[in-house]
Amino acid sequence: MTLPQWFTKYANESFELGPRTFPGRIWTASGCFSYGLSAHDMKTDELASPYEGLGAVVTKTVTPDPRSGNPMPRLCELSSGAINSIGLENVGFRAFLAEVLPQLENKQVPNVVSLAASVPEEFGPMVKQLNSVAGQFQHWHGVELNLSCPNVSEGGHDFGRDPETVSECVAAARKELPDRALLVKLTPNVADISELAAAAGQGGADAVSAINTVVGLDVDLNTGQPALPRRFGGYSGPGILPIALAKVDEIINKTQVPVVGVGGIASAEDALKFFALGVQAVQVGTAQMRDPFCAAQLVRQLAAD
Ligand SMILES: Cc1cc2nc3c(=O)[nH]c(=O)nc-3n(C[C@H](O)[C@H](O)[C@H](O)COP(=O)(O)O)c2cc1C
Repeated sequence: MTLPQWFTKYANESFELGPRTFPGRIWTASGCFSYGLSAHDMKTDELASPYEGLGAVVTKTVTPDPRSGNPMPRLCELSSGAINSIGLENVGFRAFLAEVLPQLENKQVPNVVSLAASVPEEFGPMVKQLNSVAGQFQHWHGVELNLSCPNVSEGGHDFGRDPETVSECVAAARKELPDRALLVKLTPNVADISELAAAAGQGGADAVSAINTVVGLDVDLNTGQPALPRRFGGYSGPGILPIALAKVDEIINKTQVPVVGVGGIASAEDALKFFALGVQAVQVGTAQMRDPFCAAQLVRQLAAD
């Protein structure tokens, strides 16, 4: 495709975010490309690997303890995207540090580690431990705090909606993360997302990732019941693109905090819309689950000649 004249944030050029230089501006979104280790033997005629040219893989969110996630079914597909209620299934922080992160380094996958916790006090020690294990790693670029997962119903996980608590979590992580990027993933399920972004900036975040999934519900017409056992889930995919663009616009117009755009991106045109609003980078989520080469293809399409 012919790139528009205003577009200068080429996908294959490195850029700075806080204290860190990222190798590119097209990333994959947390939870949609696993831990960044499962697609290394895939290739197409055009692409040697789904990781080709990626600026970062944001890893599946890890929590202090392993989680087995919500009961099945956890995902329903719609023509406009998907609704999921995975419930943060993950291997747990200890196994992640011991088994996953060293492999990402060995395979030279640029990565951002997504962390969630049940209380703000857990973030500082987690980031400190991460830094002590991976402080010398070249391909570990930062941390994304997931304060916004709408699928976890245990107490404490809704703190991402409160600006003061957001600021507190970020400040605790920042103290332990002097030389990597610190991002905060924001929920769109609030009246004013820019308040959360401003709070993240005040706490010391280098950027916010916007947006996480939108609260949604589907109905199974055979049973007349909600399609997912927990009724509500997180809506993602092409249907949320205009919502994500609106939320990103709100943040960019009302704050100075750099933004990484995410939500509904499936094509180069979708990504360009975020860049037109002023984001520093974009993440591909649901589209990456459908086609593991989606992000790598976007890199090619949005590269400088
Ligand atoms: C199956 C699935 C699992 C997800 N898991 C996580 C997660 O663990 N942590 C997180 O921060 N976001 C998670 N997300 C949200 C995505 O990272 C992304 O913010 C959201 O899906 C919107 O982008 P998209 O429309 O491109 O998918 C998940 C999304 C999906 C579809």
